[in-house]
Order: sequence, then C-alpha cells, then structure tokens
Amino acid sequence: MSEGKSDTGTARVSGTTRVVGILGEPINHTLSPRMHNAAFAELGLDYVYVPFRATKQTLREAIKSIRTMGVVGFNVTVPFKEDCLRLLERTSDTARAIGAVNTIYLSDGRLVGENTDAPGFHQALLAHGFRPRGKRVLVIGAGGSARAVVHSLVATGAADIVIANRTAAKARKLARQLGGEAANIRTADLEILDDFDFLATRQLVVNSTSVGLGGGAFLDYDADSTPDDCVHFDLAYAEGPTPFLKLAEKAERPTIDGRHMLVHQGALAFKLFTGRKAPVEVMAKAIGIASR
Ligand code: ATR
Repeated sequence: MSEGKSDTGTARVSGTTRVVGILGEPINHTLSPRMHNAAFAELGLDYVYVPFRATKQTLREAIKSIRTMGVVGFNVTVPFKEDCLRLLERTSDTARAIGAVNTIYLSDGRLVGENTDAPGFHQALLAHGFRPRGKRVLVIGAGGSARAVVHSLVATGAADIVIANRTAAKARKLARQLGGEAANIRTADLEILDDFDFLATRQLVVNSTSVGLGGGAFLDYDADSTPDDCVHFDLAYAEGPTPFLKLAEKAERPTIDGRHMLVHQGALAFKLFTGRKAPVEVMAKAIGIASR
C-alpha cells in the first residue's frame, strides 16, 4: 500500500492530513465524500473529504474556515450555491454568468468561487460521445440546475435550445438572462413534451426537474417521438433509473444519469483543490458507475 492509501478506500487521517469539505443542508445523502476520498486514496494524497451541515447564518463563517483553520476548500450544494457568490473575494466568469458557485478554494491568498457544474455537464456529454455544437436540445425545467446546463450549451455552440417549464415566466427569465434568441434560446410550455413534430427534431433532451423522484410518475412526455439516437440526460439520479430515464429506456433511447455530471464536476473541483489531475475512473467506480 502506498503512503496515504488505505485498504478501505478512504484516506488515513493523521496530524498532517488536509481537509476538503462539502457545505449543504441536507447533506446526509451526498456521494461526494465517497468519490473524493477514493481519488485521494488512489493518488496517495494526504487529504480527507468530509460533509459539513451549514445554515444561511453560518455559511460566511464556514467559508472563512479556509483561512482560520486551513481547510483546503469546499464544494457547495443545495441550498447555498447562489448565496456563496456574494461571500467570496473573486468569482469566475462562469460562476457569475450562472449566478451560482459549487467550488470554493484559495488562490493567491484569495477566496475564489468557481462553478464546475457547467463544464462537468459538458464533460459528461463528451464522455458519452455527444458534442453539443450545432445540436438541437430540449431542456425541461428552469431552476438552478437548468441554468448551468443552458449556460454550458450556449458556451459550447448548441444550435437550438428550447427551455420548457411549468412556470412560463421563469423559463423566459432564464432565457433572457443567458442571451435569449441571440444565443439560440427559446421557451415553451410543458405541452411541447408530447408534440411529435417538435420532439422529432431533438438530438438531446435534458431533464432538470425532480418530478417523480418522490415516487409518482414523470410528466406527460413522449420519448418515442424523438429520433432513435436522441440522448436523454437526467441531472438527477436515484436507486435504479429515474422516472424520466425509465421513459427513455422504454423507448430504447440512449441515457445518461446525473452521477455522470456529478463525477465530472467533482473531477474539475479535485484539480482545483489538489492541483492534480483527477482519477475519473476511480471516482466513477466509487459512486457506482462505469468509467467513460
Ligand atoms: P434545481 O435547483 O434542482 O434546478 P429548482 O430550482 O427548485 O431545483 O427547480 C426545479 C424545477 O423543477 C423548476 O423548473 C420547476 O418548475 P417551476 O419553475 O414551475 O416551479 C420544476 N418542477 C418541480 N416540480 C414540478 C412539477 N410537479 N411539474 C412540473 N415542473 C416541476
């Protein structure tokens, strides 16, 4: 066994171990510690990754622990991604455009906020052989995660992005903020989800809603109307296929679940925390998916 590596797949903690954390509420179900600790162990790095439950009131102090306690950095998850933006000394263009931060680290003595969700989404598509440039896409939902997806699709040259959302005003606001028609973004209501003529033109459908994850059915969506090779990407993941991906699987369309985006955003964050290239295959395996 090499230095810092343990046979349990987690880093050995000693007096020299450096700490990376994830801030969220709730945080019990996060897969990130499993993924990052497996990566630290693989590379023999003397780091440990742990979950921290923050609150809106303690978020500022939690971030300061990078200075006061030498924490290396944090990933940030629901519901703090937007709040972090104004608590940092520098933020990347991507984080500002999306309006959310998912990774905080120290660079040249400054607290920096980055968003690796958008490039993580792109990497997950590339890993499945899908290049967004010139493609026609449907994004279902217009919340925080849709924002990162649409930003990525615009940045990587998608030809036609339609955002379909229950609340039309939210879809319109998102479209406007990310460039509107000049950026090839249009909006629609949910009735478009069973419009054959429209769906037949799509090459990628992304679900950014959590509809059906609590047990019920997904929306009235007709996967059979999409082309045979239309990729279906659910940002969420669950034990087994999500309700959205079940529809796609039934129609025999290619699918990607949210763990693929999780692993790629994590790999990009890992590089910012450690300066080392992430062992993506090991991280993927640690959260139960095949490496791609
Ligand atoms: P996230 O940060 O994960 O994107 P969110 O910001 O709460 O979560 O967004 C959830 C998305 O799921 C929204 O687009 C929401 O639609 P509204 O804007 O109309 O609220 C969508 N959503 C949630 N429940 C839904 C339901 N039962 N039917 C249709 N859309 C739903």
